[in-house]
Amino acid sequence: MDKHIYMDYAATTPVDPEVVAAMLPFFSNEYGNPSSIHRWGQRADYAITTAREEIAGILCCEADEIIFTSCGSESNNLALRGIALEARELNKGNHLIISAIEHPAILRTAQQLQKHYAFDVTILPVDQHGFISPKDLTNVIQPDTFLVSIMYANNEIGVIQPIAELAAITHEHNILFHSDAVQAAGQLSLDTEKLGVDLMSVSAHKFYGPKGVGLLYAKRNTLSHSHQTGGSQENGLRAGTQNVPLIVGMATALKIVSGRQSHDNSKMKVLRDKLIESVLDNISESILTGHRTCRLPNNASFAFEGIDGNELLMHLDLLNIAASSGSACKTGSPEPSNVLTALNLSPKLSLGSLRLSLGRDTKDSDIEYIQQVLPKVVNNMRGTL
Ligand SMILES: Cc1ncc(COP(=O)(O)O)c(C=O)c1O
Repeated sequence: MDKHIYMDYAATTPVDPEVVAAMLPFFSNEYGNPSSIHRWGQRADYAITTAREEIAGILCCEADEIIFTSCGSESNNLALRGIALEARELNKGNHLIISAIEHPAILRTAQQLQKHYAFDVTILPVDQHGFISPKDLTNVIQPDTFLVSIMYANNEIGVIQPIAELAAITHEHNILFHSDAVQAAGQLSLDTEKLGVDLMSVSAHKFYGPKGVGLLYAKRNTLSHSHQTGGSQENGLRAGTQNVPLIVGMATALKIVSGRQSHDNSKMKVLRDKLIESVLDNISESILTGHRTCRLPNNASFAFEGIDGNELLMHLDLLNIAASSGSACKTGSPEPSNVLTALNLSPKLSLGSLRLSLGRDTKDSDIEYIQQVLPKVVNNMRGTL
């Protein structure tokens, strides 16, 4: 068996060779510190200024509204903690709202703000597809709410939230709106104006860029408190020498992905739908998690009754198929993820989840191979083969 099928693009993507080429000089010849006065420093500074401007063009914002970070998790931490610190200092409120299906980088940060800093946190429930209801959001807004953070697209079930509508409701009450767009980036529009977000997190390794670099978009005058103190890099909002090669890589990857997004999405949607139909038709007691159509083009996520999701991943790995159960960070944990729990699935179903996520290189033959082997593996595990 020499077939290797990577179906875990939602966990991470390979770095585009063009991105590698763009980064390389900044590891060797162009090694200056962007804060240095001399010409080595000036060239490094020019590289990150250019990257910032290119990214701002794609996000439809100003260059000084982009804060470079080390990853999507850090961007989420900076958004929540930075805004919370400011709210505390300026008496702007004590209450924040997140959703029940947020990534742990939001969920645990909010829980820490609650536990150690006495902030009041509301966790909004979702319906059986994973949608947040605009009406529910309106109902939980309080006079002292200072921030609403709701993810753009979910990492496990791919459901896409009505961000513009949720942001508009939030703004009616004069509250800031943050969105974790880590999974959306590369597949959905990141136009911050149209989305109406005040803050938005992005991570390069989800769109064929390098790992270890991300960004936080923060609308001018929304964020003034840093959660990492030190030098005055990134307008004083994120201390630490910028990672020049990775920042250049992120900008290059975002430019490339923006150019080919609609072509890649159409191709992935056809393959995704073929996969979904065949799994639901050929595997009994299986469900699709998330919404049938309002989902990321690359996400096909399921739950199989009576199956241990992690064991299923091992069987698939032996067949050279890379997949995920719940989110990558949860693998190994016997507990269903917060996302599957929020969908109110029966425990028998929620422990048997499988996420197959496609990428720009996924082929028809990959889907056909999965169609061929997955029902056999599931039936085998159930002892019905
Ligand atoms: C929705 C979402 N938010 C945040 C993150 C964290 O991003 P990073 O791996 O860059 O820290 C991920 C990663 O899987 C994610 O899917």
